[in-house]
Order: sequence, then C-alpha cells, then structure tokens
Amino acid sequence: MFKEYDIRAKEILKGMTLEEKIGQLNQSVLPGEDRLEEYKDKIRRGEIGSIILTTSATAGNDEQKAIVVEHLNSLQKTAMEESRVKIPMIYGRDVIHGHHTVYPIPLASAASFDPELVRQCYRCIAEDATSESTHWTFSPMLDLCRDPRWGRIIEGPGEDPYLASRMAEAYVKGFQGDDLSAPDSMVACAKHYVGYGFSEGGRDYHRTEISDYTLYNYVLPPFRAAVKAGAGTVMSSFNDINGEPVTSSKKYLTDILRGNLGFEGFVIADWFAVSQLKRQGLAEDMADCTRLALNAGLDMDMADEHYINTLRDLVLSGEVSMETLDEAVLRVLRVKLAAGLFDNPYVEAKKIDRAHHVALSEKLAAESMVLVKNDGVLPLRKDQTIVASSPFFDDRRLLHGSWALDGYLGASTPSLREALNEVVGQGGGTVYTCDYGIHDNSTYWLAHADTVLLLLGESHTVTGEARCRSDISLTPDQEAICRKAKATGKKVVGVIFCGRPLALESVEPYLDAILIAWHGGTRAAHAAIKTVFGDYNPSGRAPVTFVRRTGHIPLYYNVTSSGRPVDGYYGEHPEFCYTDSPASPLYPFGYGLSYTTFEYSDAKAERCEIGYEDIINGEKLKFTVKVKNTGDRAGKETAQIYIRDLKASYMRPLRELKGFKKIALEPGEEKEVTFELGYEELGFYLPDGSYTLERGLFEIYIGKDCLAGKSFEVFVK
Ligand code: NOJ
Repeated sequence: MFKEYDIRAKEILKGMTLEEKIGQLNQSVLPGEDRLEEYKDKIRRGEIGSIILTTSATAGNDEQKAIVVEHLNSLQKTAMEESRVKIPMIYGRDVIHGHHTVYPIPLASAASFDPELVRQCYRCIAEDATSESTHWTFSPMLDLCRDPRWGRIIEGPGEDPYLASRMAEAYVKGFQGDDLSAPDSMVACAKHYVGYGFSEGGRDYHRTEISDYTLYNYVLPPFRAAVKAGAGTVMSSFNDINGEPVTSSKKYLTDILRGNLGFEGFVIADWFAVSQLKRQGLAEDMADCTRLALNAGLDMDMADEHYINTLRDLVLSGEVSMETLDEAVLRVLRVKLAAGLFDNPYVEAKKIDRAHHVALSEKLAAESMVLVKNDGVLPLRKDQTIVASSPFFDDRRLLHGSWALDGYLGASTPSLREALNEVVGQGGGTVYTCDYGIHDNSTYWLAHADTVLLLLGESHTVTGEARCRSDISLTPDQEAICRKAKATGKKVVGVIFCGRPLALESVEPYLDAILIAWHGGTRAAHAAIKTVFGDYNPSGRAPVTFVRRTGHIPLYYNVTSSGRPVDGYYGEHPEFCYTDSPASPLYPFGYGLSYTTFEYSDAKAERCEIGYEDIINGEKLKFTVKVKNTGDRAGKETAQIYIRDLKASYMRPLRELKGFKKIALEPGEEKEVTFELGYEELGFYLPDGSYTLERGLFEIYIGKDCLAGKSFEVFVK
C-alpha cells in the first residue's frame, strides 16, 4: 500500500540535502502563538517534518491547547511555499476515542463486540478531527492487558488477541477510510509497539518480561491485524522487553515489525523515548540515543529533538549510514504521499453532521453496556419514585473518560442528573437525588421510593496514562453507600462508570443489579440511564476478566493449563487456590446479560475431521448453532466460538476465542449462526515467529461466554 509511492518518494529524496532529510524525521511540539515565527524559520530551513499538536508528556490527563487551524495552515504554507524542498508537514494529535464528539473509551468499544459499529464511529472521528488539521492520530492503542491496575487499560482492547484484532481492523479502517488521501481520512498509528500493556505490577512505564512465544501469540496479533488493515504508522513503546528497550531494538522494530508483520509505514517514537535510552542505561549521550534508535528502525523522533541535533554528525562520521537515513526518510515520504498531503496540504472549513456523530456515539455507548447482575430488578419502570445517589451527578468531564482532549462539554455532554430527570420525567416518575450518599434527610423519599439507583465508579482522573491503582475496588465511601442503600430494604441498582474492570466483590451482595457503563463519551449519561429504564436492552460483553479483588490479578481466561490441578480453568479448583478466596473471576471474559433470554440449540458440525493438506489449502470446518430469543423483548446476543488444541508441541490455552457474531433477535425469533475455523484459527506461532498448524484433536466450545461447554471434538488428520 505504501510501497507504491516509492518512485515518487525516491525522486523527492534525490533532491534533498542531508539537513533536509534529517528534518523529515523530526517531530516538534505544538508552538504557542509567540513561537510561530521561530517555527516558520525552522520550517523554511527544512528542520521540521511533523508537529505533534500537544505540549505535554501525558496529554490524556493534562489540559491541552485548542487547535488553531489558521496557525497550522500558515505553518503549512511556509513549508509548501517557502522551504526549498516543499514537503508538507504531517500534523499528529492524540485523537484517541473522539474529537469534539467523544465516543466510549476503547475498552468499552471492545465490549460492544461490534466492530462494524466501531468502524463507523471512528470514521466520524476522522471526519471531525481532520476538519481541524489533524492528519494523523496516535491511535489505536492495541496493548493487550491482563492487569487492570494499569491506568492505560482504558485505551486498549482488553485481554484477548482475537477480539483485539477485530477491533484493530475496525479502528484502522475507520480512521483511514477506503481512501487514505481523502480529506476526511487520517493516518492511524498502532501503538504502543510493543508489550507496554504487560508493565510489571500494572505500574505505568515499567519493565516487562515477555517470551517470544507469548509475544507472537498474544501481544502481536492486534498489531498484525492493524498492519494488514493498512495502518500507516506505528508508535514504539517506552518499555523494555527482557532488558531490551523497544526504542533501540532492531529485533522488535525491524526484524519482527517489518520482517514478520510486513509493516510498510514509518515508526514514530513515543514522547521523549529516544532520550529515555540514556536513563535506561543503554546510551551515553544524546548522539548515542539517536544512533541506537535510528539504527534499530525508529524513523521519527517525537518531541525531544535528539535526531535534529545529532544526526548530521552521526551520518558524517558513518555511525549512521546514509542508506539507513534514506530508508527512514523514504518511509515518511511514502506515508505523506499516500495521505494526499502533497496535493491537499491545507484544511478548508467544512460542515460536519454533528447530530449523526452524536447519535452514533450514543449507539456505541449503549451497545457497550455490560449487564453483569440482574436479580429481576432491571429494567426499571419510568413511572416510579427513585432515590438516586452519585458522587458525580454533574461531572460531565468524567463521562468522556481519559484521553478526550477536545470533547465538547457543557450542554453537549448531558450530565447524569440531566439524563435521569429527562428519562424518568418522560414516564411521569419522580427522582430524588442525594449527592453524597444516602442521608437521613432522604428518609421521606426512601419511604416512598420503589428503587434506589446508585451511579458509582471511578473518576477519569484515576485512569489513563500514569494513573495506575494499587486497589481497584470501589472507594470505601462508595462501598458504604451500597451498604446503606441495601439497609433501606429497597431494591438497589448499581451503575458503574469506570475505565477498568473494577473489582466489585465487596459491593456485589448489596446490589440487586449491576450495569457496567464505563466512561461512555458525549452521550454516556443518556446511554446508561436509558438502558436502566429499558429504552435500550444491554448487549455488551466483558472484553476482559472481572476479578473479585485486586489480589487476584493477573487473572485472564486464555491461560494455559499447568496440569495441576488437572483442568483448573480460571484456576478455580477449590483445593489448589487461595485459602482466603475462590480464584474464579466475578465475571468471566465474554460475559454479559440481557433483559431477554436466549437459548442455544441444535449445534452442528458439518464434519469433525479434516485433512491436514486440505486445511492448509484453505478448506474450513463449518459449525452452526441456533439461537432463539426466548424472552419477551427484542435483544442482541453475541454467540462466541472458542477452541482448545488438546495436544501440541507447546502448551496451548484452555480456551481461545476464534469467532463471535452479534445478532439481533425479536421476541420468539430464532436465527442460525455459522462459524468457520480454518488454518488461521487453529494454528499458532512458534517462538521463532513461524506459524504452524499441528495435527490432532481440538475441542470446540460454542456459547455465550468463555465458560461455554464443549460442543464438538474435531480432528485434523
Ligand atoms: C505519551 C503516550 O504514551 C502516547 O500514547 C501519546 O501518543 C504521546 N504521549 C503523545 O501525547
């Protein structure tokens, strides 16, 4: 996809001086108005190839300057008209899960199990952000994560490589569209390559230990999918793997990324990651950092200006070859060409259909709601008296979640209080709101109330980059609210707004229903409240295991069997687990309830044997199952298929998701769902990165979540 721009890129390269080449690999930070002239001088000299439209290291948590389109157009004009080489700059910003309209956090969009809807939403995000000069987004974040203490779990697709890969494709196709050169398409950046989500102890920026076997089978698949979907760029990660910083690793940045994954775009460093090599103890000085990073395959330096300051001498001394430099510059040029920047360098004002964006945002937020408990209480009737309590009734910003730099707040993001009053008002009911708990002065209302509704969870300020938690349960005051609510004798509903799968064991007994609402974006409040009152029927599924308590981390479903206990799936064998708690999850991967019920029947395998050569040549095993809505309201069910490879040359997971289908069913309606498994689904990667399928028996499980019972055994002969 990018190689086709090679001839033009090489022609441009031919006319460039050493300094101009180096400038293409330099990404500077967003200048304030006072520095525009200084930047223009640098641009005239060809010293800036890209600008990151932020000014601080942890952009997802800090206030960022708004984008001024005229400034960016005028800087671009300097590049196009006053620089010698006339190469457009590429502007990048962290447009993670929305621009002015904010969509649910990525972990929540994974919970929707609806890649097509996610693609549509990310198309809208691209349309919104490109209208304000952002050519390039530092998204999607594809870090597989098994540790919800890590604040950045919010940005990723959860714990499963298959789900993560389907989401990766959706994000990339959404951002980049069918035509990357179209004015409303933006270059995607698959990050953080690679292994950042495995930070030891869930502590941000920490070291990782990842074997090649784990890397290829769990960590790399979403990156492989993003590359296949055409992602133009990749961001290298801060972490080291087994003592080798990714920033300076030829193994990860060149051999695996370009060799094994076939990536053709360019690699951008994470913020100041090049200079970090000194603190990591690999480099002596600035020049050494540059030498290591560029020679490893890291093309563009973000923010720390090490390349621009040291690369000239390194090339002249031969420590970095001209060939290496040229290759990096060509990669950047190819992406700029593919993105259409040479032909359309400027942004023109255009009309955005915001109503459509907002409607899709609410749809995705609703589809990502995960109902994890319902003792016959939800949905609530709108004509009742409700006592509602929340510490954040009016906190609109929380609803956006971390990494929402440009989200419109105010009336554009209705608060929980507003949504509650509006929705209950429609049915003639009454809401009494208690801001800080269940008070004595609520006694009157409690006496009349039918239900207590608790809107709880965590703030966005304790999620995201550098916002890890050592305890992921609800805060003690929120636990106290749950106990007090239960003591009223009323039915209690808990809606949990969160950026991670919180450990809910301590409050679960006090809540008759629990709805995981995540941080859902611009329409989070309406999506959640309308779900509580039955306007939406929840259909989200856990994209990650919900542990009972923090001490159970890491707990993930696609674990290998240690053989002791024999089949201790999720480690729940009573004799071999913790003495103080069952080690099973509170809610397993893939789990989620609905207001209706679904019945699976008549599972069929077209055949239970397949020849090895046939499967290698593209034949597939086909399975069908009937799914019926046995309740009295319309709903959506996500049928899932898992496999287990019973005997292989390496230990294989007890369950691996290999397909899912989300289907809509009217009451009484039945549909047949088909799954196909072939070479791609049944094989695995060996530690040297080669893909293999081994003969033998596989178990197949079809059902509602990762605990689905065995449906078939199939044999690859
Ligand atoms: C650091 C973060 O790790 C990365 O995800 C982000 O894109 C950059 N800062 C730029 O803001």
